[in-house]
Amino acid sequence: MKKLFIVVGFFLSIVAKADEGMWLPQLLEKINEGRMKKMGMKISAKDIYDINNGSLKDAIVSFGGFCTGELISNQGLVLTNHHCGFSAIQSHSTIENNIIEKGFWAKTNKEELANKGLFVTFIKSITDVSDKVLAGVTKNMTESERQSTIDKNIKQINDATKLGQFEKLFVRAFFEGNAYYLFITETFNDVRLVGTPPNFIGNFGVDSDNWTWPRHTGDFSMFRIYANKNNEPADYSENNIPYTPKRFLHISMKGVKENDFTMIFGFPGKTNEYLPSEAVQQIVNINDPAKIYVRDKALAVLRKYMHTDKAIKIQYAAKYASIANAWKKWQGEVLGLTKTKAVEKKLKHESTYNTKLKANTTLNENYAGVLEKLNGAYKNIEQFGLVRDYYLELVSKVELFSLVNRMVALNNTYKKDAKEFKNAVERQLNLLPDFYKNYNSEVDKDMFIEMMDIYFNKISKRFIDANALEQFYKNESDLKKWANKIYAESILVNSEKTLNSLKTNPEEFINNLMQSEVVVLLNSMNTNYREKIATQLNKIQPEIDNLQRLYMKAQMEVMKDKKFYPDANSTLRVTYGKVDGYSPADGRVYKFQTYLDGVMEKYIPGDYEFDVDAKLRALYEKKDYGIYGVNGKMPVCFIASNHTTGGNSGSPALNAYGNLIGLNFDRGWEGTMSDINYDASLCRNIMVDIRYVLFIIDKYAGAGHLIKEMKLVYDK
Ligand code: ARG
Ligand code: GLU
Repeated sequence: MKKLFIVVGFFLSIVAKADEGMWLPQLLEKINEGRMKKMGMKISAKDIYDINNGSLKDAIVSFGGFCTGELISNQGLVLTNHHCGFSAIQSHSTIENNIIEKGFWAKTNKEELANKGLFVTFIKSITDVSDKVLAGVTKNMTESERQSTIDKNIKQINDATKLGQFEKLFVRAFFEGNAYYLFITETFNDVRLVGTPPNFIGNFGVDSDNWTWPRHTGDFSMFRIYANKNNEPADYSENNIPYTPKRFLHISMKGVKENDFTMIFGFPGKTNEYLPSEAVQQIVNINDPAKIYVRDKALAVLRKYMHTDKAIKIQYAAKYASIANAWKKWQGEVLGLTKTKAVEKKLKHESTYNTKLKANTTLNENYAGVLEKLNGAYKNIEQFGLVRDYYLELVSKVELFSLVNRMVALNNTYKKDAKEFKNAVERQLNLLPDFYKNYNSEVDKDMFIEMMDIYFNKISKRFIDANALEQFYKNESDLKKWANKIYAESILVNSEKTLNSLKTNPEEFINNLMQSEVVVLLNSMNTNYREKIATQLNKIQPEIDNLQRLYMKAQMEVMKDKKFYPDANSTLRVTYGKVDGYSPADGRVYKFQTYLDGVMEKYIPGDYEFDVDAKLRALYEKKDYGIYGVNGKMPVCFIASNHTTGGNSGSPALNAYGNLIGLNFDRGWEGTMSDINYDASLCRNIMVDIRYVLFIIDKYAGAGHLIKEMKLVYDK
């Protein structure tokens, strides 16, 4: 009796603390509001999302299409992560004025820095269009017939919707294609850098601390949206003025306590929560390990050069961070899935599902065998999926290959349409200088050697391109020799020659280029991949998509008492949870909050990951935290049980009143498997405490004028 009580009590405590799910803002009122209020939320679902009136959603933007940002002043000030703004920060850095190292704070609007290609997008409305999109779709259609019906229906919606110049519309599939929603967005293209802390704060702990808790990173940067004089979106112009948003977030000075309600509002990119056991097994044993292996090798090449050459360190900083990021996440994912016995959990779920399915005659008639076929289809795709992961990973690490792809695309355009060719050349002439700014052919040649080594040694022989192999043998199976020849011969590794030739005689240049060894090589490898791998994937994948959709629908009908949320798909979502520590392993317990003391504990003078400058050390020595510290301590980061993923970077962490308490930027190591298997005992999202952000801006950087723009509140 007592034992039963403990077990039930334990279960309840998990249920009360964490809720899995990335929910649709427009459905919160119907599905989640009661639960959210029970967990402590003091505002209503309508305060979060309301199509007819202003709501918190009007303060949230998709930042650059890959992160989230939020408005925090009535003058268009946007807060996001340091790592989200990093490409912009890097682009304004030179050896003489290295703002990556020094940080940057515009003292006036005039000093704010424009960023080519950077944009933010607001969501204007979200509408359920499932009936319209699925009209005419029948059970017996093939996947491609189904898709073309859907495409036609979406085109009709497109044609029937009137849009402003900077508005866009897109329709996205949810629940594996069982539902469709229409999004109307508005995009601002003039987004300027306002401020960033130096790297040692914004990326404190760099790779060693990435994806881990306890964390001490001030992962934030600030931008400003500019609009035309009518407060409308506009391309960059000197005459643009700071944008006045419909809504901006108020900043809570109160901080967090254990068990406080929190929610994250943002754009999670991609999750796979409804995979069958076979697919999860492959991620753990086949796919993740292959991708980790390729990136191990790629990172080693970059490290070798970055550690000894300052210019290369700047050039390759963003590339390194991005390759390292997923590389480390996949390792955590494998560990977490293994530790939480995710495959066994899936098998158990599948057996419960099957029992319930068989107990219901109608459902059983509709869905019998779906799950078994789905697992079978995954089994069939395994060998091709492995080669896909190796190939796409390794090919994308060689920058010369990416140049070749651009030139091959130009050549294809040339063959089709001479006028379009001219435009395409113009576009490349515009883009290539940015590419070359961060390109070093010595680094890249080394990368070629390592990646081709993987190609020949890790992929089974029957899937390797015979022409590539022949070339390799011709060079006495000496990758170094071969690479020297290719890189010496290729004009593409020389920015001046390439840009000049593209300017003066693009037709002849491209034409000659197509005969060069590297172009012939990559074309041949790509063709080989298409014929031996892609065709197979294209055969099996539609079958998987179809079965996965049926399985999704079946689960929703079979498990009627469960609330389902759709997988993340880069659309706006709300996730909620509680401030809470966790126990990553036996005998080890993590608290929910870190302090500046921890930064100093980690401090290693001169280290590239854990250095701290004299200014921050002095503030710490004097405990000079202004209004931002509590009881003589400066909070830095905290964790909660919100279910987040990549794309949620920069998302606001809101308290029960909808006020800003932090900035989401990461997940804990033991919980990165939440994309596939959320587990309340281990999954935590990591946020910078907003008070640390304010402290750095005000006390460290002396940019108090920005604080004046914000609205600080002291809620109950
Ligand atoms: N892991 C976080 C995310 O996925 C932060 C990445 C940036 N930080 C870093 N050290 N690379 O985006
Ligand atoms: N750092 C991630 C980002 O880009 C968020 C962390 C996560 O994946 O949970 O988007």
